[in-house]
Amino acid sequence: MKVVSVIGARPQFVKAATISRVIGSRPEVEEVILHTGQHYDENMSRLFFEELNIPEPHYNLGVGSGSHARQTGQMLEGIESVLLKEKPDWTLLYGDTNSTIAGALAATKLHIPVAHVEAGLRSFNRIMPEEINRIVTDRISDLLFAPTQTAVTNLRNEGLEKATRFTGDVMYDSVLFYREIMEKDPAAFTVQDLPEVFLLATIHRAENTDHPQQMENILKAIRELPYPVLLPIHPRTKKIISRFSIPPNLRLIDPVGYLMMLSLILKATKVITDSGGLQKEAYFLGTPCITIRTETEWVETLHDGWNTITATDPERIIRAVQLPLPKRPQSQAFGNGNAAEIIVDLFTGTC
Ligand code: UD1
Repeated sequence: MKVVSVIGARPQFVKAATISRVIGSRPEVEEVILHTGQHYDENMSRLFFEELNIPEPHYNLGVGSGSHARQTGQMLEGIESVLLKEKPDWTLLYGDTNSTIAGALAATKLHIPVAHVEAGLRSFNRIMPEEINRIVTDRISDLLFAPTQTAVTNLRNEGLEKATRFTGDVMYDSVLFYREIMEKDPAAFTVQDLPEVFLLATIHRAENTDHPQQMENILKAIRELPYPVLLPIHPRTKKIISRFSIPPNLRLIDPVGYLMMLSLILKATKVITDSGGLQKEAYFLGTPCITIRTETEWVETLHDGWNTITATDPERIIRAVQLPLPKRPQSQAFGNGNAAEIIVDLFTGTC
């Protein structure tokens, strides 16, 4: 059996690494990796391939940045020609980026079965480009791998239950696997002069970075916090942050690899983020999270106050930072750490 995995952006490299490792243990499955080139900076792409031992992509479309239409259009064309050449039995897609929707459109129009990893996530906020990518990808895919029961319910509500399978979350598998590797060599995964007590922040969502008032609010909150805040900065955010006054307690560093990120989450007192993945990683690693968005797809992380939604309201952010630490999360909502095995069994038809 041959499968083409379409990946392109940082969170997809993490998910694909876990699936590729399982596929690698199944001699009957041949995986062809297609990198769209959506992320191309050294520390947004190559670093992840090296650190996570992802097989070298067979194809890199080198699409790079651009408007949604240009980026998605170029991917569509490139993915189509690879699929026509490779003629896979399945196309595997991950998450909710422009690379995901391009893969879904290209493959389904060639009548190649499509399996979507991390299906059924909904923010119910169509301002997010990711929400459009999710809805369209799920609607036209053949197999929908839902990471949580909430995702299963969302898919059922859209009439997609026939294609839906609950698998658990590959990002949970991934944290369990790589945490162990990271903890074997703690000295390798630290930042110089890291304070004993600090908050870890990430900001990259277009809803925040592309609206000066949102950025002002976030920076205002950070300025008033009585802790140092470490911000590994996404290239999109780096481009615009120089237009603002940087709070003295905010330290900007280059984007970090996956293992470094896990290590920083573990060491941080709390995490402040607009990322979906980081909310879960914080939850899995037992670090409270403050989500600077108006909603979350990962509602399970809200239980017991483990994750707090504050939008970009400075007062709410500050209050959430001051909240006492909650009890350790106990939830099994993200599966048992074997989501990748379940997924590979499902699309190879062995279960
Ligand atoms: C994309 C995904 C988002 C995901 C995020 C993870 C979409 C619509 N969004 O957002 O869901 O959470 O990846 O990071 O697909 N840039 C660089 N170098 C890079 C990559 C990006 O400089 O290697 C800059 C470019 O200026 C680009 C901007 O970042 O214009 C945005 O990149 P893009 O891939 O379009 O979206 P992300 O914000 O990374």
